[in-house]
Amino acid sequence: MTIQEELNNTIRELVQPGKGILAADESHPTIAKRFKAVGVESSEEKRREYRSLLLDTQELGSYVSGVILFEETLGQKSNDGKLLSSVAASRGVVPGIKVDKGKGPMVNAPGDEITEGLDGLGQRLEKYKELGARFAKWRNVYHITETNPSRAAIEANAEVLARYAAICQSCGVVPIVEPEVLIDGSHTIERSADVNEAVISEVFRALQRHRVELETMILKPSMVTPGNATGQKTSAEEVAEHTLRVFRRVVPAAVPGINFLSGGQTPEEATRNLNAMNSNTSMPWVLSFSYGRALQEPAQKAWAGISSNRSAAQNALLKRAKLNSLATLGRYSADMEG
Ligand code: 13P
Repeated sequence: MTIQEELNNTIRELVQPGKGILAADESHPTIAKRFKAVGVESSEEKRREYRSLLLDTQELGSYVSGVILFEETLGQKSNDGKLLSSVAASRGVVPGIKVDKGKGPMVNAPGDEITEGLDGLGQRLEKYKELGARFAKWRNVYHITETNPSRAAIEANAEVLARYAAICQSCGVVPIVEPEVLIDGSHTIERSADVNEAVISEVFRALQRHRVELETMILKPSMVTPGNATGQKTSAEEVAEHTLRVFRRVVPAAVPGINFLSGGQTPEEATRNLNAMNSNTSMPWVLSFSYGRALQEPAQKAWAGISSNRSAAQNALLKRAKLNSLATLGRYSADMEG
């Protein structure tokens, strides 16, 4: 298979109406925080047990087209000795891998951060491919304050994201491009819209500069909402209106799929907002989900680290996956929460 055929096949499998992506690629500190919330101590074995349970959920592939894994998971095996990436693939779920090395403060840009991990990325991708990964994810973060993100941070982060995406495609790996504008803060929804527009338009300028093929990438953005410190509850219609207005301005129609992160929204909010976007008039992209917390929170609560809770946790995951699948088709309603 040529590199181009690999990219075409993977994007076709990932971007399907009615399906989204499960983000299960939490770094060690993040998964430790999620486990702690349900009274579980994070260890390699507990992470393996938990993530095996997720990937081995029957019918997951009816609602989920891909799963983003953390590097450790890619090398782990199920109880019966199968690589976890092949457990996902056998459920019809394409395995992917988080390849960035995390973020840190950006020098000379107070309050801004930059993501690292480009060095040796090509070689790492070849290794990940051997372990079954067919797509990748790289996350940049942008804080909103009166002065952040700075122009320097917007440009530098866009450049890094575009270089990552170009390297992925050269290896036949579909890149998920994730510029996360954080929900933290007391900003208005209008300010979030302005920042998202500036960030995403700069990302596409860089992607074009680096000749990234837009047809074989996925954008993973935040939804446009007010900051979480405002305590304001915005209607799903308002979120949809602001978010789509920004995307129509800056996301080329050549991009096949936009898969949102949940970014601290509750599971129900994330589903409701996605549904409102898909109740809208026709759009050039498939609008779907790539949720971490909003898909996993109920499953983590149901599991609580106890092996015999495995099927309860799988049912909780499947329920959120199904409701979000309906939301990608604009067919979700709150009474389905039951
Ligand atoms: P959340 O949906 O929990 O924001 O996670 C998505 C993700 O992959 C962040 O990088």
